[in-house]
Amino acid sequence: MAANKKLLVLPGDGIGVEVMGEVERLLGWFDKKRALRFDVESAHVGGAAIDAEGKPVSDATVKKAAAADAVLFGAVGGPKWDNLPFDMKPERGLLRLRKDLGLFANLRPATCFEALADASTLKREYVAGLDIMILRELTGGVYFGEPRGVETLKDGTKRAVDTQVYTTPEIERIARVGFELAKKRNNKVHSVEKANVMHTGVLWRETVTRLHAKEFPEVELQHMYADNCAMQLVRNPKQFDVIVTDNLFGDLLSDCAAMLTGSLGMLPSASLGAVDPKTGKRNALYEPVHGSAPDIAGKGVANPIACIMSFAMALRYSFDLPDEAAVVEKAVTRVLGQGLRTGDIMQAGKTKVGTREMGEAVLKALEQG
Ligand code: IPM
Ligand code: MG
Repeated sequence: MAANKKLLVLPGDGIGVEVMGEVERLLGWFDKKRALRFDVESAHVGGAAIDAEGKPVSDATVKKAAAADAVLFGAVGGPKWDNLPFDMKPERGLLRLRKDLGLFANLRPATCFEALADASTLKREYVAGLDIMILRELTGGVYFGEPRGVETLKDGTKRAVDTQVYTTPEIERIARVGFELAKKRNNKVHSVEKANVMHTGVLWRETVTRLHAKEFPEVELQHMYADNCAMQLVRNPKQFDVIVTDNLFGDLLSDCAAMLTGSLGMLPSASLGAVDPKTGKRNALYEPVHGSAPDIAGKGVANPIACIMSFAMALRYSFDLPDEAAVVEKAVTRVLGQGLRTGDIMQAGKTKVGTREMGEAVLKALEQG
């Protein structure tokens, strides 16, 4: 018999804990009803880890994450930890996991459920049927470039530095993932940078152009400046299929794309490492794009759908269970079709529910197959 699938659950802080609770119930359902067993371990990350273990992620947790088949991550951060020194901030826990696990490819699909086409701040005709994949480079760029830091100058003023840096292999490996994704979708890639002002942008464009000509000439490729891309995302989002971009631009553009789907509470993500040629294993972390939302934390009103859909991505990308992933996605579609809405996607005439009720409804919809 194949070994059980190893999951590490890191709920983190704020609404991360609440939305992850609904995913844990989903795990229970798969165990009971589908005999799909997961070995589930949980650990602290972010503020919760600072409180319990003295730092935003412990070495032991990083080790467990690397040994797991997939990590399910909630969210980190909150006002309680806002004033800590930079390296102690809750976010460092997430950034360390990304870096140490080599999770360079961050997939952020922005798809608009038919039932939510009116929940977006954009008009229905612009978002109905929307299906974009934002592919964000996740272990390089200004998030990790050296030198970085703040120094005090002789006159008492300060000077802060962050460094944007990319190498050819880093650009090639993320672009390759982008082209491969496009081949299974609508065969179109937008490569996004600022080659008009940044050297990294020039290298990005050159590298993607070369890789395209050499390995993926059959895929349609367009280059776009990041500022224009932000504008095009709200002007005509359906022109996009796969957007491949760097760490910082990907962070910004994915929040922007989230609103097209109705709410940040709807956006799942997968962060993937390279496949280990020896073991065939690839590190992976699945995370809702929304943060810890301290303003609504602990109230039981957060939307668990992004976290649930992140679990569906884990089924698809880490466990090669596309049918089970589709079952989860179908259940979510059904619940939205029934008119159930958490506050973030609430519309007139619909039924407002909390986190637990939404999770409950998804379980019920699963039962109906
Ligand atoms: C995201 C978040 C993170 C990021 C934060 C929490 C470090 O905004 O995943 O988009 O900036 O990458
Ligand atoms: Mg972000």
